[in-house]
Parts: sequence; C-alpha cells; structure tokens
Amino acid sequence: MSLMKVHGGTPLHGEITVRGAKNFVSKAMVAALLGEGTSELRNVPDIRDVNIVGNLLKLHGVVVEWDVEDGIVRLDPGNVETAHKADIDTHAGTSRIPILLCGPLLHRLGEAFIPDLGGCHIGDRPIDYHLEILRQFGAQVDKLDSGILITAPRGLHGTKIELPYPSVGATEQLLLTSVRAYGLTELRNAAIEPEIMDLIAVLQRMGAIISVDTDRVIRIEGVPRLGGFTHTALPDRIEAASWAAAALATRGDVFVRGARQPDMMTFLNTFRKVGGEFDIRDEGIRFHHPGTGLKSIVLETDVHPGFMTDWQQPLVVALTQASGLSIVHETVYENRFGFTQALRRMGATIQVYRECLGGGPCRFGQRNFHHSAVISGPAPLRAADIEVPDLRGGFSHLIAALAADGVSQVRGIELIDRGYEDFRGKLDALGAKVESG
Ligand code: EPU
Repeated sequence: MSLMKVHGGTPLHGEITVRGAKNFVSKAMVAALLGEGTSELRNVPDIRDVNIVGNLLKLHGVVVEWDVEDGIVRLDPGNVETAHKADIDTHAGTSRIPILLCGPLLHRLGEAFIPDLGGCHIGDRPIDYHLEILRQFGAQVDKLDSGILITAPRGLHGTKIELPYPSVGATEQLLLTSVRAYGLTELRNAAIEPEIMDLIAVLQRMGAIISVDTDRVIRIEGVPRLGGFTHTALPDRIEAASWAAAALATRGDVFVRGARQPDMMTFLNTFRKVGGEFDIRDEGIRFHHPGTGLKSIVLETDVHPGFMTDWQQPLVVALTQASGLSIVHETVYENRFGFTQALRRMGATIQVYRECLGGGPCRFGQRNFHHSAVISGPAPLRAADIEVPDLRGGFSHLIAALAADGVSQVRGIELIDRGYEDFRGKLDALGAKVESG
C-alpha cells in the first residue's frame, strides 16, 4: 500500500487541467468493439481504469495504441477473438467494465463472460438490471463457478424495456447491445447523464440510429453494421468538482482548466449556496473560497440532472467547515457515508441516519442503510492516519488532510490513480505540502 504524508493547513492555489471523463472514456473504448473500422478517442486521461479497459480489449484481440502524452487512444477491432476466462478475471481486477463488454462481444463472437465483479465498495452494486436487459434481447445467461457466461444462439433482437431505476450502467448496457440488434428497441426511465449523451454521440458517429426524448425515453433502430469513430471525450465533471471542493475546504483558489458549465450546473448552484465563489471562463472554471464563513445547506443526491452522488463525498468535507447544520440525503447508493468515519476521527461532527432526511423518501428509507448525514460545523480538522476506502471517499480524505492542522498519513493512495490523473503532480502545482512514500 503506498503512503502519502500530507502537511495540512495550506490553502490550495493555482491551476490544474482536467481531461476526459473516466466514466465516459471506458465506455467509448468498449463501443469501438462494435465497429468494423479503427476508432480514435481523444482527451483520454492517464488513469488506471483506461489501462484496465485497454488490457481487456487486447485480450479480445483488439489492437490498442495509447499515446499517453497526447491523450489519444486508437482501437482496431479487426480481429476480435474469445479471451480465456482466467485472463479476463485477472485483468478486470476490481473493474466493473466486463459487464459492459457483453453486448458488443455477443454481436462479434456470440458469447461473453463476466468474472466476479468489483468496483468501489459503496453499496451492493448488483448487476440484475444488466442481466435482465441481455435476457430481454434474447441472450442466455448461465451462472458458472467462476462467473457468468452469456450466449446468444439466436442473435439479439430489439425489445421494450423500462428500468426500475435510471441506472447509468444499465442504460449503457442497453445502448451497446441495441445498436446492432435486429429491429427497434425502446428504453423507458433511462439515465441521461452527460456521459451517456456523449456515448450516444459516439455511437451515432459509428452509424447508429438513436433518438432521445425529453421524458427519459431512448429509441434505437438497430443497424447491421457500424464503422469506427473519432471523438473528443467530454471533460471529467467529477474530477472538476473534487478540486472545487478542495479549494473550498482549504480556503483556496483553484482554476480548473477544462471544466465546463453545462455539465456542472447543479454543482455550481450548490457551490454558490454553500458560499463558494466561481468564475466561468471559456477555458475552464475558477473556484474559490469567499474569505468569509461558509453556509450550511440541505442537499439530496440524485440521477442527472440532480446533484451527482460522486460530488457528494468531496463536498461533505467542505461542509464540515460551514456554520450550522447541513443535511445530506444520499439516494443513489445505499452505503456512501462510510468515509465519514475517518472525518469524525479528524474532528468533524457528522452523524449518519437510516431515515430519509432533507428530502423526499427514497428507495433506501425504512431499511437498514445509513444513507443520510447531518454535519455540524464549523469544526476544525486535525491530522490523522487514514486508509483510503474507495476512489471518491479516498480523494475526500485527501481533501480533509489538506484542510487539517498537522501531518496526516494517508495509506492506499494508489486507489486514487483509478480516476484522478496525476493527482500528485496537481497537488504540487497547487502548492500542497505532500510527500509520497
Ligand atoms: N443498480 C441495481 N442493479 C443494477 C445496476 C444498478 O440495483 O443492475 C443500482 C445500484 O446499486 C445503484 C443505482 O442502481 O444503487 C445506480 O447505479 P448505476 O448503475 O447508475 O451506477 P454504475 O453505472 O454502476 C456509474 C459510475 C459511478 C457513478 C454512478 C452514478 C462508472 C464506471 N461508474 O456507476 O461512478 O457513481 O454511475 O452516476 O461509470 C465513480 O466514478 O467513483 C463511480 C462510482
């Protein structure tokens, strides 16, 4: 486990750049599998998830070239082949990407395999919607000891599906499966996150026919073949918000080059309500502390266009410095407040509750999930020894360590490389006093 020593108490000041969104880039790389030609994805960040997806695609015969410096990935799926199950398991690591390879692999090879899946430990993260979608297209799903084998002996056929919840992954699953299925597909209660709209743009460039209605309905007319694409990934709005929250929590001033207003409207509203200030420019957004006290808020996470669950954790750190009681209701994941334990050890006053506080009832109410938090501030934070629990929780701990008095030791820092490009370099550029062990 790698360690970072963080000398807290110095406001972050300066400029950093965010490149393409982790939660889009991996899906666009998978989409390339559906095409007959070579694809080129630009603005690709140097993060571990890109490596994992690249390796999984290579295992399936795709030629992957990654120019890390220029952020360009070229994918040639000319010779797609079946991979060994054990190799998929080894290369997937904790990634959930193998589930999204299913549709494209079924079209190309007639079968796909999903090993036991990982991802961040922020809830159960089931894949029932994914499997149900594949079944509805006519695939056969068989549980093996080592994972799940999916076959499509009679091909994949368009269908009508309504999701029980607008899941991002399930919507992507449906898109990647339907574009080359026979006939029409209709998806109701679809997720409409900007990353999904960018995936639809990629698929359209490849030759797909997809229309998006205003009421979470997506319709796809299957086509027999698709070509390659050239596309520039939309910027990572989660990373941008994470640095914005870091600026606020440390009383700093950070210009996030690449951040885009349209994808961050809801975050910007909340940032302003807390008292944070921002300045939107063509090339990015400057986020800074107001110099006076921060204000407490009531906040509920939700699917797009609501406040993203991935923005919640970094913002909670800033809320520990706001005057009064803030209430945060997490409605996307049932278990995304585990990271607050470490914040409590650092001096934050945060209590978590099973009840739905600060908003309407959600899927997790009346169940045994601590999915609401009450944060009382301002509470001075002090240094602590912390172990990174997951990607976003880990970055939030880093923010807390940067805002705290004294020297914190943060272990397991490599988890953060999954989704934050060169965060050590960026911390240096912002004047943070950190030492990597
Ligand atoms: N869900 C089910 N069954 C399913 C799929 C989802 O019950 O088959 C539930 C989940 O348990 C969760 C909710 O639906 O409670 C929403 O999950 P969703 O499918 O939308 O999430 P995801 O596709 O697995 C992506 C991002 C997450 C991000 C969420 C929500 C990627 C690789 N991951 O996950 O990002 O939090 O959408 O926006 O795109 C992160 O970047 O750190 C991260 C966790």
